[in-house]
Formats: sequence, structure tokens, C-alpha cells
Amino acid sequence: MQSSKVYIERNFKVSDVDDGLFSSFIEHLGRAIYTGIYEPEHPTADEQGFRRDVIELTKDLNVAMVRYPGGNFLSGYDWTDGIGPKELRPTRLDLAWRTIENNEIGIDEFSDWCKKAGTEVMAAVNMGTGTPKEAGYMVEYCNFSEGTYWSDLRRKNGHKEPHAIKTWCIGNEMDGPWQICRLDAAEYGKKALETAKIMKWVDDSIKLVVCGSSSSLMPTYPEWDRIVLEHTYEKADYISLHRYYENFGNDSDFLASFLDMESFIHSVKATADYVKALKRSKKTMHLSFDEWNIWYQQKHKNRDWERHPEILEDRYSLLDALVFGGLGITLLNNSDRVKIACLAQLVNVIAPIFTQENGPAIRQTIYYPFKSLSMYGRGTVLKPVIQTSTVNTKYGDAPVLHMSVVSDETNNVINIFCLNISSEKNLLSLDMRSFGNLSMVEHNCLSGKDLHMINSFDNPYAVVPLELEISNAKSDVFDVMIPAHSFNVLRFKY
Ligand code: AHR
Repeated sequence: MQSSKVYIERNFKVSDVDDGLFSSFIEHLGRAIYTGIYEPEHPTADEQGFRRDVIELTKDLNVAMVRYPGGNFLSGYDWTDGIGPKELRPTRLDLAWRTIENNEIGIDEFSDWCKKAGTEVMAAVNMGTGTPKEAGYMVEYCNFSEGTYWSDLRRKNGHKEPHAIKTWCIGNEMDGPWQICRLDAAEYGKKALETAKIMKWVDDSIKLVVCGSSSSLMPTYPEWDRIVLEHTYEKADYISLHRYYENFGNDSDFLASFLDMESFIHSVKATADYVKALKRSKKTMHLSFDEWNIWYQQKHKNRDWERHPEILEDRYSLLDALVFGGLGITLLNNSDRVKIACLAQLVNVIAPIFTQENGPAIRQTIYYPFKSLSMYGRGTVLKPVIQTSTVNTKYGDAPVLHMSVVSDETNNVINIFCLNISSEKNLLSLDMRSFGNLSMVEHNCLSGKDLHMINSFDNPYAVVPLELEISNAKSDVFDVMIPAHSFNVLRFKY
């Protein structure tokens, strides 16, 4: 057994957490839309063809925004294909995923779905085949009230009220050679700036995300980010980060993925702050980590053109969920700069919600840590002092206990997220004297003997978090046993 100590001081505040940190992503890709959120023949389908079972599971996650419509799909997408009478919408080849897209769902339906699911659209405009002018038209269609060509067209299409989309991404992963009409950093920077000017002229209340590197592994990183920001600094509100992790066979390295995410965030912050200094700007650039998850990136195989094929349908294990929880903790700890984070994606495609066509929808293992973070990660992040041992990994020395502390001052609760990456249990001593006497109200723990266990349609609850026994005694110092290989939520009321 190992032991650790943590000191939590109520005045050591890092930042208030932005709701945007609990966002997600749905792309026109595989079965995310079709047979994911939308399946008119499904027994739970509502009057618009949306699966009510998926809406309920999404509501439970309390997702702030859902990025849409892509992803790589975005760079070949004409958003006007997805508006107007469904029978008149064109069927197109989606070159990004080699799929047939019949455009049954577009921005109007997706906005309706978001309302039903208790979330908001985070829209994205095409910077591949798309133009700044088309991006401006889309803002006008979605956000202008009435009396112009595009706003009146929206009204004619059944949406009298504007969609009022607040956050917009200018393109997707434009540094990637796989992107339809990739640009180099200066080309993208110039195009993004001109697009941003038009979009904000149409609606100056919107916030804009420019494309940072599509991963810290890109050879052009972080030069790409510097150049893009040098062009767009005064118009952009966020720069994006994308990063997926997978298990290459060494569980300790995989469990320490949060260290890599941490250093990625720090270097993007440093790059943005360099540009801030260069520009003598007063503005601090925020970060939008708008694609993060575990993804076993099989090569996309050439296949016959199909409608909504089963692609990127990763099935997540308990181990994946633990690593995922560690990444979520890191996002929280960086909430002073990371204001948006999108779990990529939400349904079927590398997703927490998994559906069967004409069948049930289940929660994958990663559903649970996301739900805990979204339920209890809102408030003010504190900076604890943690004394724990370390494990040497390919990302450096990783603390065996990786933690985030969030003080919810509205409800007088402290929520502590704690990942144990070790195969030994750990006796954690929590010193919270600055809060006075507290009572422990919950110890929710995701753990298990078999790290490779998954949830399936046959056994949908194989991996679920459990409520562990807690002591009733009031105190300001607590000893809590943290199980081996576990993701924990410890909650205290003061
Ligand atoms: O989320 C899957 C894909 O990953 C997205 O389409 C793309 O933006 C990223 O490479």
C-alpha cells in the first residue's frame, strides 16, 4: 500500500471553471448523426426523427456546447446543402470520410436537437473549399433576426427565431495534409482573419476559435500556432488544440497521458503569450481544446461508398476510462486558460454514447468520468499541495495520484477528483483545515479487477462507478483509501 498527503487551502484559487469545459462534438461522420442522434424509424424517435433515448443520455451529461458539423467533414461541406425542404436537398460525396451524405440533417435540425438535449451549438465554418463570404452568410442565416435574404430564408425554413449561435470555429485542422484544401499557416492565418472580420461584422457578439495545430505531434507545431496567431490575434478569442491518446502496449505510459496533455497546454499558452507580447496586446488568448479523447486510430480503409458506415466505433475499456479521467483532471487544472474543451465525439464515433440501429443506446466506460467532471467540476479550481510518489513513464515522472480540487462555493462543497495510476491502493490524507470542520458526503469510485472490461449491449453495466463507504465523522483532516487503478470523486460539505 502507498500513502499520500494533500493540503487544500481555500484561498489558493486558480480560476473559476467555464461551463464550456464540458462540451462535446458531433460530426457528419459514420453513425454519429444517422442512427446516432437521428433515426426516424427508431421506437424512441420523436416527431423530428431524433432518438429520445440518446437525448436523455446526452441531457444527463449536462453538455455545454456541441461542436458541429466537423471535423474533417467540414472542409468539403456546403452548409446550404443542409437547409430547406429535405426532399430537395442534394446527396453528395463526402470526400473526407468516403461516405455518401444525403443532408437530411443540417444546421436547422441540429439546432433543434441541441435545444432538446439541453445544450448549444458550437458551429464551424468551412475554410477548405469554403469562402469567407459563405461563412458570413451562415452567421447571417443563423443569427440575424429578419429582413435580409439569409435571415428571411431561415424564417421561411421554419425557424422564426435566430439560432443565436455564440461560438464559431473558423475551419478545422487546416494544418493537416489529410484536410480537403489544406493551407499553410500564413495562408490560413490570412484567410481566417478576413473570415473573422466578416463574421464579426455580421454579428459582433460572437466568439471565434482559430485553428491551432491538429496535434502536438505535427511537424509544423508550434510554428503553425505562432504564425496563425500573428495574423489573427486581435480578432480571435480562442486558439484550438486537438489531441487523442491511445495505448501502445505500456499501461503506465498510457495512464500518464495527462502529463503530455499538460505540456501541450503549457506550450500553446507560451506561444500565445509570445504573440501577445509581440503585438503589445492587452488581450490574453484563451484555449479551446475542442477535440480530446482516447482514439485507437486505425487507418481509414478504402471502402465502397456507403451511407453512415460503422467507422471509428471504438469500444472503451475501464483502462481507457481511467486515462480519460486523468485528461479531464488536467483540463480542470488549466481552467484559467482552457475555457472550452470538447469531448470528441458524443455518439457512436469515438464516443461515450453507443447505439444499435433499431436497438438500445448504452453508456461506454468513458461516459462515467465525463459525467462526474461535468456534474462536480463546476466552481473554482484550487491549487492543492500534493505529496505523493511518482512513476517513471515516457512522458516523464508521473505522480501516482493525479488530482484536481474544485470548490463549489454556492453549495459549500469541495469536490476532489483523484486518479490513481498505480496497481497499489493509496491511503490519502486530506488536510483541509482552512475550511473548518467538514463532513464527507460521497466517495464515488470507478475501478475494477479487469482493466480491459468494456460495456456491451449484452452487458451494459459491466463497468460502472460505485459508491464507497464513508465515515460520518466531522473533521478537517480525513484519511481516505484510494483503490488501485481508480478514478475517484471525493465530496465534502463545509
Ligand atoms: O474526431 C475525428 C476526427 O479527428 C475529426 O474529424 C478531425 O478533426 C480529427 O482529425
